[in-house]
Amino acid sequence: MKKTLIATTAISVGALMLSACGSSDGGSASGKDDGKITMGFAQVGAESGWRTANTKSIQDSAKEAGITLKFSDAQQKQENQIKAIRSYIQQKVDVIAFSPVVETGWDTVLLEAKRAHIPVILTDRAVDSKDTSLYKTFLGSDFVVEGKKAGQWVVDNAKDADTNGDGKIDVVQLEGTTGAAPAIDRGEGFADATKANPAIKVVASQTGDFTRDGGKKVMETFLKTQKHIDVLFAQNDDMGLGALEAIEAAGLKPGQDIKIITVDAVHDGMQALADGKFNFIVECSPLLGPQLMDLAKKVVAGQEVEPRILTEETTFDQAQAKEALPTRKY
Ligand code: AHR
Repeated sequence: MKKTLIATTAISVGALMLSACGSSDGGSASGKDDGKITMGFAQVGAESGWRTANTKSIQDSAKEAGITLKFSDAQQKQENQIKAIRSYIQQKVDVIAFSPVVETGWDTVLLEAKRAHIPVILTDRAVDSKDTSLYKTFLGSDFVVEGKKAGQWVVDNAKDADTNGDGKIDVVQLEGTTGAAPAIDRGEGFADATKANPAIKVVASQTGDFTRDGGKKVMETFLKTQKHIDVLFAQNDDMGLGALEAIEAAGLKPGQDIKIITVDAVHDGMQALADGKFNFIVECSPLLGPQLMDLAKKVVAGQEVEPRILTEETTFDQAQAKEALPTRKY
């Protein structure tokens, strides 16, 4: 009796914690051996168009796969994600999936999941942990490659990218969330690719937290503090779209006076590219839901899965964006 009370209290505290950071529950009771799968998904937040498309893909695919989804939105805070994961452990879900807001600091909670025999799947972003037994697989993009593709565009278009013709290509960078895998890796890939041309220099780099508002505010500062900007590398479309507003408000023409490269290829970003306001987008696919549900079924059934599953992605220039836009899914 006492035990039951303690267990019930723990679950209610967990449920409370989940609702505090925004959650929804597919309904059916978990932890039962009824052949049905319940997944606890701890999402980063709703910071960007990419994230909205990713959440929709996960929710739609869970429904299609007959998987009960317990979903929480961590509002870009690691402590909220940890609370959500602990709550899923208490609720004895069959599988936990999450996209870690930052790379480090996950070992303790992932060990708790392992001890509870609940498999964990990483989606979209990786964790930086030496113990790879803490999760079954990681499904998502290679962010270093994405950064390299962005940097390669500047190398390949160096003449055009030198917008004031002074022989130097001054780049400003809008970084994603500090400590997040895509921010670290895209920055690294961009720096690596642009090493090929010593004229290319990142003269300022600051986080815009992957949001439009963040991108706008940081770009306003860059425009005030930099003598001249040839290129903006925004590590996602939303920050690039926010920066567009700042550039236009400063009386400059985005895409001409300042060349703009972004990552994601969500609808609004592709529209800006088709309109000539962006110059190049590196695609990062948010449509991870169907593959995630297949993996969940396999790991719950105790089947072996590949430890790393890469997403297939492309790039878009302005003409390609015009062509792709009418049939773009997100
Ligand atoms: O982790 C993927 C990144 O997170 C996307 O590029 C960005 O838009 C999102 O917020």
